[in-house]
Amino acid sequence: MNICVIGAGYVGLITSLAFAKMGNNVTCVEKNIKKIDSLNNGIPTIYEEGLNDLLIDCLEKKAISFTSELDASVKKSDIVFIAVGTPSLDNGEVDMNQVYESINEISKCINRYKIIVNKSTVPVGSQKYVKDILIKNGVPCDKFDVVSNPEFLREGKALYDVFYGDKIVIGYESQKSRNIMNLLYKPFNIPIIFTSPETAELIKYTSNAFLSTKISFINEIANLCNKVGADIDTVALALGLDKRISPEFLKPGIGYGGSCFPKDTMGLISIGEKYDCPFEIVKSAVSVNNKQRVIPVDILLSEYADIRDKTITLLGLTFKSGTDDIRESPSLYIIEELLKRGAKINAYDPMVSDEIKEIYPDINYFNSMNGSILESECIIICTDWEEFRDIDLDFVKDNVKEAFIIDGRNMLSLDEAKKRNIKYYSIGKGYTN
Ligand code: UDX
Repeated sequence: MNICVIGAGYVGLITSLAFAKMGNNVTCVEKNIKKIDSLNNGIPTIYEEGLNDLLIDCLEKKAISFTSELDASVKKSDIVFIAVGTPSLDNGEVDMNQVYESINEISKCINRYKIIVNKSTVPVGSQKYVKDILIKNGVPCDKFDVVSNPEFLREGKALYDVFYGDKIVIGYESQKSRNIMNLLYKPFNIPIIFTSPETAELIKYTSNAFLSTKISFINEIANLCNKVGADIDTVALALGLDKRISPEFLKPGIGYGGSCFPKDTMGLISIGEKYDCPFEIVKSAVSVNNKQRVIPVDILLSEYADIRDKTITLLGLTFKSGTDDIRESPSLYIIEELLKRGAKINAYDPMVSDEIKEIYPDINYFNSMNGSILESECIIICTDWEEFRDIDLDFVKDNVKEAFIIDGRNMLSLDEAKKRNIKYYSIGKGYTN
């Protein structure tokens, strides 16, 4: 099929490449010329395992191209995917401006029947709203269908998820659009749930709000573990072995971040307010997360009355391992709190993008873990990068003035720290006094 994807962000790029790989002819439309040039030259604009090879493969087969020309790309397409950003507004509502802008532009290019697909995460009712805009813009009803097709891929595992995901959700109205979407997705061999547009839109928010709640729940239990001397890994293992619960998303730490959970929990709360359905559980999950992500600062402040001019090393800046993304990363909240209190920050992350250096020019960035540790007084592990497990504790003992590690991702062993007389704090796996 001829497919146009609007937006070459995370979802847009991965979706475009997946359809291209499955033998479709894909044009990905993007306003950022730098991104277009880079992608057309085979250079990925984000870090994602396997992305480089897939991009080059699709370009060589001429199955994909990147352009800023929306008009021509939409006209030659059977299906148009909208994968633009839907960030949060200050009040938690979803900012739909980029979606509306795209729809208005698409309206001018509907030369024959097309399916317009909402891939961006949009509030319940958006499919209807998008349809209304197209009609208001004079597009005849028989020339289009609007379908909701939320995306569930995880950063760092995006290619795996897009080809081997658990489910594909399609919210549709006309049988014609259902048949075409079925043809498009059948080769992926992933179970497809066909449903109404409202149900599809709500599934995305429900998934992300539920997973966020699961994380906040286990984090609260982890905090209690530290106080009563219980072990969170064993609690989570036993809990997860119950088939009704599953072991996934029970990893304690300094909270969730990223482009979805923080935004979609707030989005669901805001949708709930509109319909007089206050989501008390989701609100609590958000509030637990807000506290959880700055726990390392609370621990520091309980140890030292004043952290002014203390040098603190942050290991890991991205919101999780396997990505270069810092959006809503707990490390950013820790940085803010430390800077507010006059601390000095050393930082090391194996993958973080240069964007952070522009936001926080006063941090000392290092290219190696040991480099960032030298001369510091305390280490906070913020991201679960595997290499942090191999931290040389003897080197820490010799080079970190206070020999203090706050392990926000439970990467290290309390016993190993104890043996070396290193002060150590984990999230639910104990701490040294
Ligand atoms: C998430 C959803 O998983 C995905 O389905 C959706 O499409 C987008 O949002 P992503 O944000 O890429 O994906 O990352 P994910 O692996 O889900 O982790 C999100 C956050 O939760 C990370 O900050 C991670 O560190 C944290 N997390 C995850 C935990 O703290 N504990 C866990 O057990 C799992």
